[in-house]
Amino acid sequence: MIEAIIRRRSHRSFEDRKVEPEKLDEILKAAMFAPTARDRRPVEFIVVQDRGMIARLSKMTPYSGFAKDAPAVIVICYDAERGGRFKEDCSISAAHIYLEATNQGLGACFVQLADAELGPELKGALPSAGGPEELIKKELAIPDRFRLQCMMPIGYPARALAQHDDSEFDRSRIHREKY
Ligand SMILES: Cc1cc2nc3c(=O)[nH]c(=O)nc-3n(C[C@H](O)[C@H](O)[C@H](O)COP(=O)(O)O)c2cc1C
Repeated sequence: MIEAIIRRRSHRSFEDRKVEPEKLDEILKAAMFAPTARDRRPVEFIVVQDRGMIARLSKMTPYSGFAKDAPAVIVICYDAERGGRFKEDCSISAAHIYLEATNQGLGACFVQLADAELGPELKGALPSAGGPEELIKKELAIPDRFRLQCMMPIGYPARALAQHDDSEFDRSRIHREKY
C-alpha cells in the first residue's frame, strides 16, 4: 500500500487513450468501499466519458481546464438526505480513487467543486449566484438532494511525475503525547 501512496500524484495531463472498463470498475469499487460516517453509504458516482460533456465540465472552475483531455471524469455525488458528513465522506472516497487509479497505472486529480467559483467562461451561466456545484447538477440531471464535493478526471498520465520521497517526511510536523 505504501508504494501506491508514494507514487500517487495529481495528474493533469493525459494520453489520448481510453481507460479499460475493468479498471474503472476497480476504481469505483475502491471509492465505494471507503468508510462513511455511520456506514450510511451516501456517496454515488457519475462516470462521464462523453467528450463534449467532459469539455463542458473542464470549464466549470478556474482550476479544472486540464480535465478536457481526460478520457473519463468521475463526479462524486453525495446524497445529503442519507448522510450527514458531506465533506469527509466524499474526500475519503476521492482518496481511494487517487490510490486505486495509481495502483492501476492511471492518474487522477481532485477538482474542488463545493464552494468553488465558476470558471471565467461560465460566469453568469446561472440565474442565481450558484457555482460549479449547482451548474453541474443541472447539466448532469442530478437530483436536488445531492451535493458535489469534487470531480476526479482520470486517465493514463502523459508524463511521469516525481514520486514522494523521504525528503518530504517532515518530522517537525509530528508531535508525541502533546504538541
Ligand atoms: C481539497 C483539495 C482540492 C483540490 N482542488 C484542486 C483543483 O480544483 N484543481 C486542481 O488541479 N488540483 C486540485 N487539488 C490537487 C492539489 O493541488 C494537489 O493535491 C497538491 O498540489 C499536491 O500535489 P500531489 O497531489 O501531486 O501530491 C486539490 C486537492 C485537494 C486535497
